[in-house]
Amino acid sequence: MKTNRKTHRETDSRRRSLLVAVAITGGSGMAAAAFPFLSSLAPSARAKLSAAPVEVDIGDLLPGQMKIVEWRARPVWILNRTAEMLASLTEVSGRVFDPESKQKQQPENCENATRSIRPNLLVVLGVCTHFGCSPVPRFERGDGEKMPADWPGGFACQCHGATFDFSGRAFKNTLAARNLEVPPHRYLSENRLLVGENAKNIQGAKE
Ligand code: FES
Repeated sequence: MKTNRKTHRETDSRRRSLLVAVAITGGSGMAAAAFPFLSSLAPSARAKLSAAPVEVDIGDLLPGQMKIVEWRARPVWILNRTAEMLASLTEVSGRVFDPESKQKQQPENCENATRSIRPNLLVVLGVCTHFGCSPVPRFERGDGEKMPADWPGGFACQCHGATFDFSGRAFKNTLAARNLEVPPHRYLSENRLLVGENAKNIQGAKE
């Protein structure tokens, strides 16, 4: 009984701790991400829990590493961008479809050159804006990861070939004409991120 009360309190708080985080530094390891805890729940409990904001520990996220968490049954990428990754954003501005993200695929406090609250930390839905596949990291410049020789690093969708830069902006001449969506999020402290909830008075991206 005591356990049930605790469970309800935790669910009602509309906030859940990180269930699964996968650290990625590149390559195709993201495809192995899975969410076994959620799948073990009854459908109603799963739906309620899935909609709740997700609290993530980012204190151990080194430059160049990415974590994946689940929010509303979608993968959320949290990438700690290196100085080189950030520099590439300026470099590729002429190659992306919507360089200033005018299509409002982010909360208003991420309407800036890095599409983020903190310049180094990208928080974005890992859902391709063409048809909903999950792209994979292709962080290495050049053709080392079977990309074109002029590849600047970013993400590639293996379904129909859309590509995105290190801020989730869609490259031109692919099937995705919208940037990846930045979900509502805010920082609780230096090392704690809450995905699924904006700071007060901040207008969110569409969902
Ligand atoms: S779903 Fe990503 S390119 Fe089609």
